[in-house]
Formats: sequence, structure tokens, C-alpha cells
Amino acid sequence: MSELTRATPRTPAAGTGLALLGGDRAVPRAGTGGTWPLITTADEQAVLRVLREGPLNAASPGEPEVGRLEQAWAEATGTRHCVAVASGTAALHLALRGCGIGPGDEVIVPALTMNATAHAVCAAGATPVFADVEPGTYTLDPQSAAAVAGPRTAALLPVHLHGLPADMPALGELADQWGIPVVEDAAQAHGAQLDGRRVGALGKAGCFSLHPHKNLPTCGEGGLITTDDDDLHEQLVRLRNFGELEPTGARSYIAHRAALNARITPMAAAFTHSQLSRFDDYARRREPGIRSFLDRLASLPGLRVPQIPAGRTHVWHILRLMPEPEALGLGPEHRTGLRAALHRVLRAEGVPVSQYQVAPLSAQPAFRPDGLSTSDALDRVDELFPVTVAVVDGSLCLQRRHLDPAAGPLLQWYADAFEKVWQHLDLIRRMATSRSAPGWREALRRG
Ligand SMILES: Cc1ncc(COP(=O)(O)O)c(C=O)c1O
Repeated sequence: MSELTRATPRTPAAGTGLALLGGDRAVPRAGTGGTWPLITTADEQAVLRVLREGPLNAASPGEPEVGRLEQAWAEATGTRHCVAVASGTAALHLALRGCGIGPGDEVIVPALTMNATAHAVCAAGATPVFADVEPGTYTLDPQSAAAVAGPRTAALLPVHLHGLPADMPALGELADQWGIPVVEDAAQAHGAQLDGRRVGALGKAGCFSLHPHKNLPTCGEGGLITTDDDDLHEQLVRLRNFGELEPTGARSYIAHRAALNARITPMAAAFTHSQLSRFDDYARRREPGIRSFLDRLASLPGLRVPQIPAGRTHVWHILRLMPEPEALGLGPEHRTGLRAALHRVLRAEGVPVSQYQVAPLSAQPAFRPDGLSTSDALDRVDELFPVTVAVVDGSLCLQRRHLDPAAGPLLQWYADAFEKVWQHLDLIRRMATSRSAPGWREALRRG
């Protein structure tokens, strides 16, 4: 047991009846906070400096903030180049286009990810082809990727989901065999490492989101692309700014490629650069609290906590917990009911668990092959993406804001709540089997 576990007193509620049935909550009302991003005076001053001194726009010659952030993030990831853009989605879109992906190409994407991953492929004019994820890590399964690859496969787009790097050695081997690039979706995984190298340096391009909920936030929207490839870097600089060359003096306004405006604002860049100075410290301070929370949960029977394969680090953007129906004496058909029952009792205790990723991407109308009906898509999804389906149906998540650097004591209350709920498994089983929880299949059928 860690120091933190021993030092934090349990709440009196830990041994009482369930809050759902009128008992005391395990998590005190004042303790439900969790704050992210943490904004300091230095962050505010960085934004004010831009507001007062300008320039307000990244296309203005000599604008210093964007370049400063790019240099710092390239150094942090150990890459030669970084290009800052308008969002994580723009980062993915530009990286794919910069790698030459376009109409007629297929890009392999995990069926379990935020929908932006697949939208970026569509925006590049290519087709997302979905593969399943691995049961232990929830990241792209190389065997499933190999099974769906074909002559039009032009790139792999693994996602370092929730902060854990995907199996890049196996995926890189496939990509090398097929002579195609790997573009990393590292939107949720700033700072995560595989064999001592940071994500963003593991493929041809690494794409990060700076959404305020992400581990490295901005004050609005933003994204970063990292690469070691000089040619790709040059393409990315054009693609974020109407296809124009990087201005050395005044802007040329000559378009060398068809492209939109995907520039980040100097205020967003200044805010993130200021946050970056505390990034490693925040990560260090979060680790013991999260570890000790997971140590306690790992001892509950039938609850799977995140698995971290040797050589990889997890940066805990999201914490996904997987109740295992079979281990709790229930059939697999009660997976959704079990998740819904736990969701209800845990939230009543004050644990803000939520469902994240509410339907496999492959079944969502935007990403289905033309002409595939809803019922055919639903028939296929169980057969082709069993792990994704089990995760969507059965798991619960804690979000980044509940995992802030000072959240250690809060997480101990959450652990109290889990332990209390696990003393009432008979009731949970009855709840899980007595009513069917409405799910994504019904939502998709309703249209
Ligand atoms: C896995 C993943 N990819 C892409 C994105 C898109 O990033 P953004 O919201 O900055 O466009 C997100 C976040 O929203 C994400 O979680």
C-alpha cells in the first residue's frame, strides 16, 4: 500500500449503506470538484502580453509566440520540427494531407477513438477503414489492422488512447512492410513514452490536441504536429496557411497548394507555452495519487484497471475501468446492465464516472460505407469489433478534470466509494439483470 493510501483517512461513509438507498455519500459534496486546466497568473500574463503588444494573428510577419511554442514542443518530444495549428483535428487532417493521403486512399483507424480521428481522414478525401482494439490497452490491434489492410491502404492512424502509447513497434513493422506512413493520433497522450521515446516521435508525424481538457491545454482551440521529416514540415507550414510559403518578410499570398486557414492564434500559443513550463511537474505530481487509487481498485474482484505493457508509460488523460460480468457471476449479455447499474450507484456516491465513446465509430452513419444499412452495420459490428463493442457497452471512465495534480485525496474518496459498492454486489447483480439499459444500438436504429 502506498504512503498516500495510508495517510488519507477513510470517510465514515465507507462502511454505511449505499447513497442510492439513502446512506451517506462516500465522496463529500465539497470534494467533487476536480479542476482542469489550472490557470496561473503567469498564464494570464502571457495572454495579456499578446493582447497588449500583439500581433494578434500568426500570419503577421515576425509574430514570436507560435514559433516559441513550436520550438519548445519539438524539444519536449525530441523531434526536429513542430508545426502549431488550429486544433487536434486540423493537426490530423494536415498530417494526412502532408503525407500525400487523398481521394482513393484508405487509412486504418481504430473503431474505438474520438470521432475526430475518422473525420480527419474523410476531410483529406480518403476513407477510414476500421480495425479493432486490443483488450488490455484499448489501442489499435496490429492483427486486426493487418486483417483489414488492402491494396488501397495508404496509412496507419493509431491512437494513443487515454494516454497510453499504441503498439508502435508492431504497427511500424506492418507499415514498413507495406511502404506506408504511420501518423500518430497523440491528442490524448502528451508526454507518454514507449521504450524511452516520447509519442510524437514514433511515426512519420505526431498529432496533438490542445483542447482545454487535454493534458497540455490552451485557452480555446489548438493543435501541434511533430515530425523529423524536413519535406513534410515544409508541406505542413503551407497547408496551415492557404498553401502559401513560410513568409521570410511580407506575406506572398501566392497559393502553392489548395489549403484552408488552420493557423493557431498567438494568444493560444502563448498560453500553452506558459502551461508547458509546468507540464512535467504536473505529470509527476499526479502519478502517486492515480497509482494509489488504482492499487486499491485492482484488489476488487471483477474490476479491470488499465494495463500498461512493459516499456510504455501512461499519462492518464482518461482512466477507463472495465467491470467483468463473468467474474461477477453474470453472463456477457448483462455487460450493459452491469455498467448502467454501477454508473447509477457510483454517481449517487459522488464518483463522476461517465461513458466515453458511446458507439463504435464503424457503426456511426458518418463513417459507414455508402449503402450499408443500419441493421447491416449493427450486424457487422459485433462480429468485426468485439473488443470495441465490449468496451463501449461495459466500461466507465473518469475524465482528465478528475485527475488534476492535487486530486490524490479526492481519488481516495472515489476508492472508498468503489469499495463500498463492492460490498453490495448482490444488489448490483439484481440491478444489472432486472432492466435493460438503453444503448447505442437503439439510438442508431432510431436514427
Ligand atoms: C483521440 C482524439 N483525436 C483527435 C481529437 C481532436 O482534437 P481537437 O478537439 O483539438 O480537434 C481529440 C480530442 O478532442 C481526441 O481525443
